[in-house]
Amino acid sequence: MSHPDDGVRPVNRLSSGVVTVMRIGVLTSGGDCPGLNAVIRSVVHRGVVDHGDEIIGFHDGWKGLLECDYRALDLDAVNGILARGGTILGSSRVRPEHLRDGVARAKEHVADLGLDAIIPIGGEGTLKAARLLSDSGLPIVGVPKTIDNDITSTDVTFGFDTAVGVATEALDRLKTTAESHQRVLIVEVMGRHTGWIALHSGMAAGAHAIVVPERPFDIDELTDLVGKRFAAGKKFAIVVVAEGAKPREGSMEFDEGGKDVYGHERFAGVARQLSIELEERLGKEARPVILGHVQRGGTPTAYDRVLATRFGWHAVEAAHQGHFGMMTALRGTDIRLVPLAEAVEHLKTVPAERYVEAECVL
Ligand code: F6P
Repeated sequence: MSHPDDGVRPVNRLSSGVVTVMRIGVLTSGGDCPGLNAVIRSVVHRGVVDHGDEIIGFHDGWKGLLECDYRALDLDAVNGILARGGTILGSSRVRPEHLRDGVARAKEHVADLGLDAIIPIGGEGTLKAARLLSDSGLPIVGVPKTIDNDITSTDVTFGFDTAVGVATEALDRLKTTAESHQRVLIVEVMGRHTGWIALHSGMAAGAHAIVVPERPFDIDELTDLVGKRFAAGKKFAIVVVAEGAKPREGSMEFDEGGKDVYGHERFAGVARQLSIELEERLGKEARPVILGHVQRGGTPTAYDRVLATRFGWHAVEAAHQGHFGMMTALRGTDIRLVPLAEAVEHLKTVPAERYVEAECVL
């Protein structure tokens, strides 16, 4: 790829064709997630310090690339951001059709800016877009992120550990207030169509029932489960429910939320609907608690900082090796590269055996 200031910039192509000094664009897209800043910092550190690269950051995700809205990222720009939540670059969602229409523009901007590589950091939607742009010939190395932990091909995504920690702390706190008031608290956690946050936080906090989208619930069974706890003399119960959970077909009336402009399902408040139903059936006071975006906010855990930093480091290395159309992934304790195509094929859902391990302890 040609570069407008090839005469100035110390581009260094080895005889093998590998570029040793690069101009790399980085962006964060989709919902924010603790650890995004750690990736950005790591890309800048590895690129600038070890390779002499030039890094630019696009603002507000793919929108920044499509509108050529960016800023230079040097070491000062990423000073002190490792532990900071959110993303210093900003993020946004983009409608798939806008991106499809924008491929030619994105290619033009990449050429004008002389970019040798683009590192998009994002979840399922972002990685699908990354694949689209990669198939069109752009040099892309993806980095997966999401608190939902629903990306196949990587054992874990950063952000998940932080979200589980926040949800677990909330559940611990809610247990004491549920006990004081002899209530049933139905705590709704995020996760879209998967129940990873519900499963892990529910197990960690010793919830009395865990409801996940992978296993549609039967309201009679759930009532029995919680009812048995009261019958055994216990005075309160905590039910963790993933926002995407739904009742088994025909077992309960249920409001669906429709779709938003990005084609994502709008969740219609499963905790609220469950609390009304359980209160009526059990004759116990039941309240919904929706944790919402608090699960995504604030500082990442040490685990997420380390994973995010490793992903950033390996994404830069992949770019230098010319491994485009790939995504960083955690496999066991190693970071590997996997094809973007593989990563977005299907969602990583909670397997039945994991759910069985977590089944209610009264
Ligand atoms: O994908 C991350 C996530 O936090 C989901 O768990 C949640 O359903 C969604 O994003 C919320 O998106 P928004 O911030 O657009 O409401």
